[in-house]
Amino acid sequence: MLKPIEIKKGLYYVGVNDRTKALFENLWPLPKGVSYNSYLINDEKTALFDTVDICYSDVFFAKLESALDGKPLDYVIINHMEPDHSGSLGLLRSKYPNVQIVGNKRTADMVKGFHNITEGVIVINEGDELPLGHHNLVFYLTPMVHWPETMMTYDKTDKIIFSGDAFGTFGTLDGGITDAQLDPERYYDEMVRYYSNIVGKFGSPVQKALEKLKNLDLNYICSTHGPVWTQEDQIKKIISIYDKLSKYEGDEGVVIAYGSMYGNTEQMAETIAYELAQQGIKNVIIHNVSKRSHSYIIRDIFKYKGLIIGSPTYNNKLFPEIEYLLSKVEGREMKNRFFGYFGSFTWAGAAVKRLAEFADITKFEVVGTPVEMKQSMHLQNYEDCVALGKAMADRLKQDR
Ligand code: FEO
Repeated sequence: MLKPIEIKKGLYYVGVNDRTKALFENLWPLPKGVSYNSYLINDEKTALFDTVDICYSDVFFAKLESALDGKPLDYVIINHMEPDHSGSLGLLRSKYPNVQIVGNKRTADMVKGFHNITEGVIVINEGDELPLGHHNLVFYLTPMVHWPETMMTYDKTDKIIFSGDAFGTFGTLDGGITDAQLDPERYYDEMVRYYSNIVGKFGSPVQKALEKLKNLDLNYICSTHGPVWTQEDQIKKIISIYDKLSKYEGDEGVVIAYGSMYGNTEQMAETIAYELAQQGIKNVIIHNVSKRSHSYIIRDIFKYKGLIIGSPTYNNKLFPEIEYLLSKVEGREMKNRFFGYFGSFTWAGAAVKRLAEFADITKFEVVGTPVEMKQSMHLQNYEDCVALGKAMADRLKQDR
């Protein structure tokens, strides 16, 4: 029997930590793990908020049983159906056959599709309320933060928002559950990586969701991943992180992502970076796309306004890892970046042409003149790379 983890009177943490999976969604590295958060309000009626990944159902059910303290489970509110949260829903219904599943009409479709459950499902609409006794819940539909059925549930009594993936972050909860019990600093970068990798495409829906939240008093943000945010300054900070990222606003700085087989194209990246530093740009991040997981490159592209990409020509196309990175940036419908590019070839050039197409597709503001190098660095290439670095620095400085 586990001891219940009480966040505040009547609110329990029943989530789990995953330190085993290498890749979230089988795509994104998890060096610091991830938590799947689930919560219980134990009132006259009991309400569970989401479940957890099926791999951790044993620990989850032990925690839930402890938090229920012998009471029946009346409701499970499904804020998000992605299986990292709904994976244990079928088992939950087996163990608690009388539990009512609460979600919107899109949720109901997915509950049927993923779990073959159609009975005991309560379909709610925007603004509907659900009284639990002392606590009173109200539902806000927030589609595409991160799936079409996503919604948030607000406890009007204690001013708690159960926000689904919103305000989530990679990183396990090592000891502390709330921001007051741990060092929040260790989560900010992982929050940006989580947002940019998982939710990054959905800037406009995130803005709409933030608009719905803006008039709510918030004492607690209970996301499905990462710490529970309780401190006023932390709540303001994480809302501002999400606001900035979803507007595709970046800080002054440049990400230079390059591919290079034998180091010649890499020298172009080094030359541009050095010139940026000479011009007073301090945040210059160089990523070798063959070595660095794209997850971190995408995080940094969301962080900084400047982006410069360089690629050799490979089989009359882009270097494959660069092509793969471009598809991820295009897929996120990234906006508002100053873009420079360079490429190389040995006998026939193709890389620079494809990078020009990428600039058209993304509608990034092209800065400077693209540089194309044949075989290795010559004086003219060097001077052209310096000019590209200077042009990017000048453009960034215009926004100071
Ligand atoms: Fe944490 Fe979209 O699931």
